[in-house]
Amino acid sequence: MTVIAVIGSQWGDEGKGKAVDFLAERADYVARFNGGNNAGHTVINEFGTFKIHLVPSGIFAQNTTGLIGGGVVVDPAVLIEEIEMLNKSGVGVDGRLWVSPRSHLIMPYHKILDGLYEEAKGAGATGTTRRGIGPVFADKVSYNGIRWTDFASNIFEQRLQIQLELKNKIIAALGGDGLKYESVRDEYRGYYLKLKPYLKELFSLVQDGLKAGKNFLLEQAMGTFLDTDWGTYPFVTASTTIPSAASAGLGIPPKYLTQVIGVTKAYTTRVGAGPLPTEIHDTESEVYKKFGEVAATTGRTRRVGWLDLELVKTAAQLSGMTEICLTKLDVLSGLNEIKVCTRYELSCDPIRYADVDSYGLEKIEPIYQTVPGWSEDISRARSFEELPVNAQNYVKMVEEAVEVPVKWVGVGPEREATIRR
Ligand code: GDP
Ligand code: IMO
Ligand code: MG
Repeated sequence: MTVIAVIGSQWGDEGKGKAVDFLAERADYVARFNGGNNAGHTVINEFGTFKIHLVPSGIFAQNTTGLIGGGVVVDPAVLIEEIEMLNKSGVGVDGRLWVSPRSHLIMPYHKILDGLYEEAKGAGATGTTRRGIGPVFADKVSYNGIRWTDFASNIFEQRLQIQLELKNKIIAALGGDGLKYESVRDEYRGYYLKLKPYLKELFSLVQDGLKAGKNFLLEQAMGTFLDTDWGTYPFVTASTTIPSAASAGLGIPPKYLTQVIGVTKAYTTRVGAGPLPTEIHDTESEVYKKFGEVAATTGRTRRVGWLDLELVKTAAQLSGMTEICLTKLDVLSGLNEIKVCTRYELSCDPIRYADVDSYGLEKIEPIYQTVPGWSEDISRARSFEELPVNAQNYVKMVEEAVEVPVKWVGVGPEREATIRR
């Protein structure tokens, strides 16, 4: 039995989707346990190119069963669209994709409030994906949420009515347009009927699977530093992103976790506001253009920076990382020199990430080491030995600094563009 958590060790978008896709071959269950459709996971394989938001990225492996745990918040329209798209693409998810009825629903007022809160905060805004994530998790923990179970218990209408009364008052106070009860009720009843065949309590399935020694692959959404507790609060997301979330989000006791794979980009990116100590601000520079990416969910431009090993080391310690999957090494090709942040200083004294808050992080000095780059295109390399020596040394430097072995190296976005060591 293996229970493997795949987590992002930076600010999201490390390449978790690709990693889960290639690891899924050996998995019986592939599962999402946190977040919602703020996630955008890119998968490129024999079925095509996909940007997935809710269905586990391992679903392409035909031997797997996909699970969306109770820790995930579900925007039903997005899930329906994704299921239809996957079925149309020949992936076939019917009968092997199950959604926990414990999962909370993202309602239209969550999305409206997300936008209104962001606008009210002005320059201090988080830069959310505006998918309603903060407001739906706030409702979850303040006992105001709506779950799939509410339909089966015939309590949905009553709960919706109360919530709409409350939310319409807040929306009106913030200058937004209120929602009509009947139209939201009918819309969501329709979603329930469409998704009913996919709703199933996961408790017995997970427990039986653990007992039978099945292989579980758990796909985190977001990244370690977007975690509500350990991330750069308040510039974070509303769910726990460290592997312990898989326990609550799926009902898997922590003792079963056998591996934690930290997906780590060979440089750093971040979408939205908040500190990014190694940020490259010169938008005209070669390296800025090289590292530049467009966000899979919102289409925004990702901010970029050099690899920050203090950050990755902190992630490794927080998550109990057992292996690193280093992605996008190919993107560094062509740079004469590569800067890497090895530690932080504050007023010339060493300091750890966890010793300062988000505002303190703006003041720390990242201490860099400059290492030689390589000019060769490495996207066709399929073994470690095929990599130029300087690329090999870059990989070795990462594992030595983080004290976790790099087991996979990504040299391109496609599934097969992966070196296994
Ligand atoms: P996720 O949210 O962690 O799944 O990551 P995203 O899909 O949002 O962003 C990662 C981006 O990097 C996507 O465009 C991937 O196709 C791409 N990608 C992943 N691994 C590699 C790699 O090793 N090399 C290159 N060039 N691209 C990669
Ligand atoms: P994946 O799973 C990168 C960021 C948003 C924003 C903050 C809060 O693809 O790695 P939210 O909508 O969650 O309330 O926004 O979190 N964010 C992500 N950044 N990748 C993600 O997911 C993200 N999910 C949320 O940009 O800064
Ligand atoms: Mg992403």
